[in-house]
Amino acid sequence: MDKEMYCHEKEAPIGVFDSGVGGLTVVREIMKQIPNEQIIYFGDTARVPYGSKSRETIVRYSKEIVHFLQTQGVKAIVIACNTASAFALDEVEREWDIPMIGVVKPGAKAAVRATRNGRIGVIGTEGTIHSKIYSQYMEELQKGIQVLGKACPLFVPLVEEGLLEDPVTDEIAVRYLSELIDRDIDTLILGCTHYPLIATAIGRVMGEKVLLVNPAYETARELKQLLECQGLLRENPPGLGKNRHQFFVSDAAEKFKRIANSILPYGILSANAMNMEQY
Ligand code: DGL
Repeated sequence: MDKEMYCHEKEAPIGVFDSGVGGLTVVREIMKQIPNEQIIYFGDTARVPYGSKSRETIVRYSKEIVHFLQTQGVKAIVIACNTASAFALDEVEREWDIPMIGVVKPGAKAAVRATRNGRIGVIGTEGTIHSKIYSQYMEELQKGIQVLGKACPLFVPLVEEGLLEDPVTDEIAVRYLSELIDRDIDTLILGCTHYPLIATAIGRVMGEKVLLVNPAYETARELKQLLECQGLLRENPPGLGKNRHQFFVSDAAEKFKRIANSILPYGILSANAMNMEQY
């Protein structure tokens, strides 16, 4: 199949997608680190969660979304979902000739740089942890590194329910994370885009000696470098005011908007609901 073309204009927007609201933690970092950029976000709220679905399904969803973003004239795409980065990045990259990054590699690189004892924990969805993508990549980066993965599926609904600072979240965090504490890790990757929102609770349980790596922050840094390298970094803001970013979802636009307004540095005016069947 011919690779699909993309927009080579600096002024074009960046496409960002996730299964729902989690990718907004990546958007928040992009807004902070490269504030001139314009973002088109897609949250697949009708089909969330991705974390418990098969590779084939996530690849199919990701291809549909990349196709949609491409119709919006984006210059680059960020897969702001660990599960979709684990399952679909390579396949989608093969099909589309557009600068693209996921969240796994930037997070993995930062963790390898940070560890002192070579023992790194990764928490994420079942899909991300069972894919072993983080451990494979970190072993490639540094031979002999020990990676301990733990799926924490209840963290996503806790975040979506807004229980960011709540005894229930702390209790579940203790259950999930105790085995990582026992294995003496010194670095923990928050390998799901929802988890930075409960980083305080996770940090409380892990203790101050364990460094938490937020792949969202690292991804925004790498995105900036990627755009610079490709001559696609925008020099001036688009001048459309607060409304310059656009948000699309596949369901429940009002709920998305409410959560987005609690995550992003400023409120979004609307989220457009759309049907993905045509993509
Ligand atoms: N955004 C997903 C991730 O980072 C978590 C939510 C889901 O399971 O869809 O893996």
